[in-house]
Amino acid sequence: MPDPCFSLDGEDVPFIPGETVLQAATRAGHYIPHLCWHPDFPAHGSCRLCSVKVDGRSGAACTVRAAPGQEVQSNTEELNGHRKTLLQMMFVEGNHFCPSCEKSGNCLLQATAYQMGMEGPHFEEFYPDRPVDASHPDIMLDFNRCILCELCVRASHAVDGKDVFAIGGHGIGTHLLVNSESGKLADTTMTLDDRAADICPVGVILPKRRGFVIPIGQRRYDAKPVSEQVQGAQSQDSVQ
Ligand code: SF4
Ligand code: FES
Repeated sequence: MPDPCFSLDGEDVPFIPGETVLQAATRAGHYIPHLCWHPDFPAHGSCRLCSVKVDGRSGAACTVRAAPGQEVQSNTEELNGHRKTLLQMMFVEGNHFCPSCEKSGNCLLQATAYQMGMEGPHFEEFYPDRPVDASHPDIMLDFNRCILCELCVRASHAVDGKDVFAIGGHGIGTHLLVNSESGKLADTTMTLDDRAADICPVGVILPKRRGFVIPIGQRRYDAKPVSEQVQGAQSQDSVQ
């Protein structure tokens, strides 16, 4: 029996029962913007970039289960407009200086902003005062770029079994924490081969002594927009 299908922007997408709309769409090569979702981890549903209309009602494509005959709209002017606004809010909430960031060209936030046609921050910048943690011999942390996707928290817990990271604070004060008495990465057991070390979709968790080995201009999203690299979504975290 053929796989059941739902419709995504008018195209049939087959799915395996139990899959979410985003999982099935990605497997079939269709791009739905997302930031906190990663195919190796359960959905987190926090960034809302993947919001779609399912039979006319809003839902996060990473959490809504695919169902036969469902009509899903994603690539519409209205939804892309909301996504652009969300991205602009993320950019002003942190300190994202793309031209000087080691992740430029490999950053999912930057690539998604280009994809959504974001040309400027629109809102007033917050310029939060966030420290850099360079205490670890092999890994540096630049908290200025954190978008609170919790992928590092999930990877460190579920794969590395170390719980190096956690999220603390509330509301606008929500921030990423290092789980050590000093709060420094050097006082954890984190190593470069941890899953958490190469999962960050932006430029927070970076290996030392490898900066700009691949020049800006020759990186993943310099070559092709994120919407044309859907099948490579699985490896989006290994491009430092
Ligand atoms: Fe996500 Fe990176 Fe922030 Fe961790 S450090 S929560 S992976 S953006
Ligand atoms: Fe679905 Fe973030 S990818 S809410």
